[in-house]
Amino acid sequence: MARRRQTRRAPETGAGTRAVHAGEAHHRVSGPVATPIVQTSTFTFASVAEMKRWAEGRSKADIYTRYGNPTLRVVEAKLAALERAEAALVAASGMAAISTTLLSLVGAGEEIIATRQLYGGTYRLMRDLLPRLGIQVHYVEADLRGVEARVNRRTRVLYVETPTNPTLRLVDLRQAAQLARRLGLVSIVDNTFASPIWQRPAEFGFDLAVHSATKYLGGHSDLIAGAVAGRRRLVEKIRHTLIQLGGSLDPGAGYLLLRGMKTLQARMERQSASALAVAQFLEKHPRVARVYYPGLRSHPDHRLARRQMDGFGAMLAFDPKGGLPAARRIADRVRVFLLAASLGGVESLVVLPAYTSHYRMLRAELAAAGITPGTLRLSIGIEDLADLIADLKQALA
Ligand SMILES: Cc1ncc(COP(=O)(O)O)c(C=O)c1O
Repeated sequence: MARRRQTRRAPETGAGTRAVHAGEAHHRVSGPVATPIVQTSTFTFASVAEMKRWAEGRSKADIYTRYGNPTLRVVEAKLAALERAEAALVAASGMAAISTTLLSLVGAGEEIIATRQLYGGTYRLMRDLLPRLGIQVHYVEADLRGVEARVNRRTRVLYVETPTNPTLRLVDLRQAAQLARRLGLVSIVDNTFASPIWQRPAEFGFDLAVHSATKYLGGHSDLIAGAVAGRRRLVEKIRHTLIQLGGSLDPGAGYLLLRGMKTLQARMERQSASALAVAQFLEKHPRVARVYYPGLRSHPDHRLARRQMDGFGAMLAFDPKGGLPAARRIADRVRVFLLAASLGGVESLVVLPAYTSHYRMLRAELAAAGITPGTLRLSIGIEDLADLIADLKQALA
């Protein structure tokens, strides 16, 4: 596809334009506007001589979809353009992207320093699997105090998540990238919650951003996918491991992801505006003890959010007065919000993180991550704001 591309690329475009056009091949005469799904496992060669050229690394021809696929390359180019990164790759899930990234960069006898507040799946990977492979993980708080005390000559990676799931704490991206560079570590950030519309870690000097593309990038709760964007040398190293571990994305899911990404900016803007209004409504509600949303002045990281994010995102959490029993009642009573795990889709969702994203974590581990048993997390969708507020009002009444 890329070989026949006729480009009339504007020198500089905004994120909305990049989301629609970046990576796409637009042919002049009767070409498809939508990228075709190249739904094949394997590709033909013209001759044995061509095959030999491929085997010798002298040809970039497609051979097999686990190694690469034309539809997936368009998704990767679009994501790299949105993240302002040198390169990107897609994977079968966010966890495939995260585990493959870490296994590419860290081996037995080596170490990772990570912020304590992580998506539960990432935390369980670091707690349960990586130590069995001889990889040790040290945890620090979101303000990165203690990184220098834990670093040694075996440390390879500084891994952070911002905003965090589910309490929306922030890590200072510029400070983290500088610290990692000074200590000789690869810096990795989970950019799922902000999406590249609100936050582009490469602009702060981050080496890699990982995504659950299942969430905002896909945006319609109809696919599972992951992605990595960042420095080309590292992305290609991770791609090599991805080919070996096999967590490649199916082209059909790749097409759905591509389709979702085209509306990323429009969705993020609407969903984030509604999230701010919902957070303000909840903050004034007499039955709510605490609201976690970086767009609120009361949020401890509000100033940092203004500095490093272009928008505050569409995720928020709150603690109702009355703890777990009250939270259960609210989650059982909502009618517009769906009671479902995951986030980032067009439909608004509510969950209790202690029973979903952060299940199988000890009470002490939950407390260290800032999660109370009664914390409710909301993912705000594109429904009418008045309906969302009315739904929460009746559920809280
Ligand atoms: C912040 C974050 N990172 C990573 C993941 C894992 O992504 P996936 O479910 O696509 O494997 C999730 C999933 O909930 C997440 O919320």
